[in-house]
Amino acid sequence: MSTDKDTIDSYGNYAEQWAKRMRSHENIAHEYLEKPAMYKRLPDLKGKSVLTIGCGTGEECEHIKSLGAGKVVGIDISEGLIEYARKSYPDIEFHVMDMEQIELNEKFDFVYSSLVMHYVESWKKTLNNIYDVMKDDAIFLFSTHHPATWGAQRTRSETERISLLGYKKLKKNQECEVIGDYLNTRKIKDVWFGNFDVSYYHRPLENIIGDILSSGFKIVDFAEPKAVPAAKEKDKIFYEIHDKIPLFMIFALKKK
Ligand SMILES: C[S@@+](CC[C@H](N)C(=O)[O-])C[C@H]1O[C@@H](n2cnc3c(N)ncnc32)[C@H](O)[C@@H]1O
Repeated sequence: MSTDKDTIDSYGNYAEQWAKRMRSHENIAHEYLEKPAMYKRLPDLKGKSVLTIGCGTGEECEHIKSLGAGKVVGIDISEGLIEYARKSYPDIEFHVMDMEQIELNEKFDFVYSSLVMHYVESWKKTLNNIYDVMKDDAIFLFSTHHPATWGAQRTRSETERISLLGYKKLKKNQECEVIGDYLNTRKIKDVWFGNFDVSYYHRPLENIIGDILSSGFKIVDFAEPKAVPAAKEKDKIFYEIHDKIPLFMIFALKKK
């Protein structure tokens, strides 16, 4: 199944705020962890054709274009986000399109996707679609949730945020409490920013790597980025957590 309808609606309703968040560079997980690690891995894009999947309100497309890419196409499942992206960056080609059903009559030199893969249940379907729009020597660079963090039991309240993966075993009476679930793929429902209903999938690394390899790809780069040192000044607690515990992971794939 593709992205959950409530998630698509949430993104659509939140388009203006999403753009503001991205453009103010205040999204700490993006600015101080994920984007530096992704942008560091961009190849020389001068004159290249680039497809950006799950482009949101278009900021990454604009960044890629500023690096000299010849043609940049952005796709996203949310009409609201694409409408905003088109208004903001009229020189870039945007389409409302599901990455599980990519309908583009061209192949690209480079495919980029930041924090989108975890929204779909079937990676195989998505990877097959992406494979078909890549030139033979193209790279697909993407980031996604790290399963060590999303396999954990995560609880949030006004006063605390807890993330635990492990168990408590009491030898005396044979009781055991297992906290979190890393090994089973499952849909997780979440609420962001107080009212943004969102669902995504947790899947263990074995499933992720299995789907990548069985879809005709090889892995040419992999990273579990830490928060960058500048995060220390911005948010000391975020830095301390994500200097030790991964939040996202990054893969670069090529056709076998
Ligand atoms: C966390 S946002 C990331 C946006 C942007 N890449 C960034 O990093 O700022 C996830 C994006 O994925 C899009 N998305 C979710 N499911 C999708 C699908 N099946 N096909 C295309 N886009 C999808 C959402 O609409 C949203 O724009």
